[in-house]
Amino acid sequence: MGVKVATNREAQVREIVGAFDLSPASTVSGVAYGGAFAANPGGAMLDTFDPFTGEVLVHVRTASEQDVARAVADAEKAFVRWRTVPAPQRGEIVRRLGDGFRRRKEDLARLISLENGKILSEARGEVQEVIDICDLAVGQSRQLFGKEIASERRDHRLIEQWHPLGVVGIISAFNFPVAVPGWGWALALVCGDTIVWKPSSLTPLISIAAQKIFHDVTAGTDAEGVFSLVIGRGAAVGETLLADERVPLIQATGSCALGERVSAAVSKRSAKAILELGGNNAVVVLADADLSLAVRAVVFGAVGTAGQRCTSTRRLILQKPIAERFLERLTAAYQTVRIGDPLDAHTLMGPLISSDAVNDYREGLVEMQKQGGQVIYGGKVLDRKGGYFVEPTIVKSTVGMPIVREEVFAPILHVFAVDTIEEAIDLNNSVPQGLSSGLFTTSLTSAERWLSATGSDCGIANVNVGTSGAEIGGAFGGEKATGGGRQAGSDAWKGYMRRQTCTINYGSDLPLAQGVSFPVD
Ligand code: UN1
Repeated sequence: MGVKVATNREAQVREIVGAFDLSPASTVSGVAYGGAFAANPGGAMLDTFDPFTGEVLVHVRTASEQDVARAVADAEKAFVRWRTVPAPQRGEIVRRLGDGFRRRKEDLARLISLENGKILSEARGEVQEVIDICDLAVGQSRQLFGKEIASERRDHRLIEQWHPLGVVGIISAFNFPVAVPGWGWALALVCGDTIVWKPSSLTPLISIAAQKIFHDVTAGTDAEGVFSLVIGRGAAVGETLLADERVPLIQATGSCALGERVSAAVSKRSAKAILELGGNNAVVVLADADLSLAVRAVVFGAVGTAGQRCTSTRRLILQKPIAERFLERLTAAYQTVRIGDPLDAHTLMGPLISSDAVNDYREGLVEMQKQGGQVIYGGKVLDRKGGYFVEPTIVKSTVGMPIVREEVFAPILHVFAVDTIEEAIDLNNSVPQGLSSGLFTTSLTSAERWLSATGSDCGIANVNVGTSGAEIGGAFGGEKATGGGRQAGSDAWKGYMRRQTCTINYGSDLPLAQGVSFPVD
């Protein structure tokens, strides 16, 4: 489990950051609107760190409240033009956007790995997720279908159509710095909206690099200025964006606490929100499961991305006959996980995002043990040259432990043993969150029971597939405290448009609906 330190980290950082015309330790603008970066944003300075070494990467000038207002004003101006561009032509710009990400895939993946700390393979997958959603959105741009509904009135036609909505505020998290906001970029754009993006303050460099790709793709086109960027702390930048009357939709990803703030702010002004908040996802392994499949899925779900996905596996529910055997195989697999430099091809688990995240891990474990949890694997913070490393951890927990109901954003897996599938479903559904879930079984009856109306209560329910790593073709999101929003594929595009119901009378009479009579001459 040794951490391999790159011999020439400085040169590596210079090269990765340099691919986007930036230099280490320089001061960069974290605000863009109207197709260009603002020269001198007025907010506080923000540093970004290499989680592998704890060293500063660059200093970012963040947005002031005035910068946010300006970015929204510009996005609104761009909207007035963009909404008149035919949707398939908007799709053409999104096609070029996908190509922009294709061209820069390796450079951006390396930057993601550097600043976010996820391993290179996952970072590449993340950029691929942006490319995939762009492809989906290009097709969608020719399929923003309305409906025709049978009218009850003679010589009348009743239709439903979809129009662009306006400026979309996208608030995104550090753990998927481009893929999740990317779902919004691609769909909002084909739907005729423009975007003000407030990325996580923990990954500003990645968002600046993405913004540069936007500028390259949109310069001199109808889409110039459709993307605004406002980097800054939630209290200043986020709150200002949430309160702005000119922003009819907020797409927000983050903790349940963030969701409460967003909901309160948007409901005050009757705006819309698409929320993807905390997860507390369980894998259930029944006695008849293919255990090799289940072990691999649990390790990827719990240890992958260092346990920092909304979809990470946080709870493992084992049917008693295989519980001990499964845990032996699982801990053996944990032992093979190489922890270290996320840019090293052999690493499977990189650092956590920040020293605060390490503290959350440490405090979470103390609390779990206080409440009766028993650490059966891992449990330690690793002291490695300033990097934010921890061990992936397995805790035998009991159902009554209050902390089991919370999302601790770290590679900690609670394990429970149950007798029946009914008990497993109850346990799966017993937490406030409802994002993702996976059942491992070879029984058709159990699988269908799990997917039935009395089965898993999550937005995502899988069979012989783990909790994380969803494809973009499906609608992504969860129930209960996860916020109820849906993003990415299926009909999630509808969230980015306004629906209009139209009745057209092509006759010479004025019949009233419901047979109402109202005679006037
Ligand atoms: C998130 O962690 O917020 O399903 C999103 C997955 C990824 C997206 C995760 N496609 O794990």
